[in-house]
Amino acid sequence: HRTVALIVAAGRGERSGSALPKQFASVAGRPMVAHSHAALAGHAAVDAVVVVTGTDQFHAVQVAVGPVQCVAGGATRRQSVLAGLESIAAAGGADRVLIHDAARPFLPTQVIDRLLGALDSASGAVPVLAVADTVARCGGALGDVVPRDGLVRVQTPQAFIFSEILAAHRGWSGDAEPTDDAQMLRAAGGMVAPVTGDTMLEKVTYPDDFAAAEARAAARYR
Ligand code: C5P
Repeated sequence: HRTVALIVAAGRGERSGSALPKQFASVAGRPMVAHSHAALAGHAAVDAVVVVTGTDQFHAVQVAVGPVQCVAGGATRRQSVLAGLESIAAAGGADRVLIHDAARPFLPTQVIDRLLGALDSASGAVPVLAVADTVARCGGALGDVVPRDGLVRVQTPQAFIFSEILAAHRGWSGDAEPTDDAQMLRAAGGMVAPVTGDTMLEKVTYPDDFAAAEARAAARYR
């Protein structure tokens, strides 16, 4: 199996309140992207890592993680992932791909193990966590509660059979902009297996998330 990891880091991070795009802001002493890069590059099953980012950030990525292949991203996450997949395809392809958000810095190796294991019997695999809060619609006033039974929160990395997720991306024709890749594989008819996610993988999006990420790192990494 040739397994390539694709880290998407081309977002502007506008909700984070940080001057730098958030994936380059420091968390637990290193730029955010460096943590997940180290976890993926250091995993025995991962053969290569590709980072998708703005061309103006190639240098920042190299400074953060060392020599690594960088690919120019697009205006949306979907376009950034597609650019990364096409560059892998142009370089000879892969059997499996792990697609990961740079905004989720802490990536337990056990999650990677579970995802790749699940690909033995599915085209895709995603880490999921149960929803603990009450979930409701909200627009102005609070609306209807959505029963949380059977709902999950979906994280990254997401693992796929490379040829299948590439075909799903190339053939995408949905209206709404997808927020992850598993929904694209499903739209193309693929089966996605859920595996147990991890609270270490919470996404850093808003200003308060940085302090929470520091606390998670202090609890688990030191
Ligand atoms: O904005 P959001 O937190 O959903 O972004 C998820 C991931 O997708 C981030 O790591 C971000 O850098 C990446 N992204 C991207 N290209 C975009 C938008 C987001 O690579 N145009």
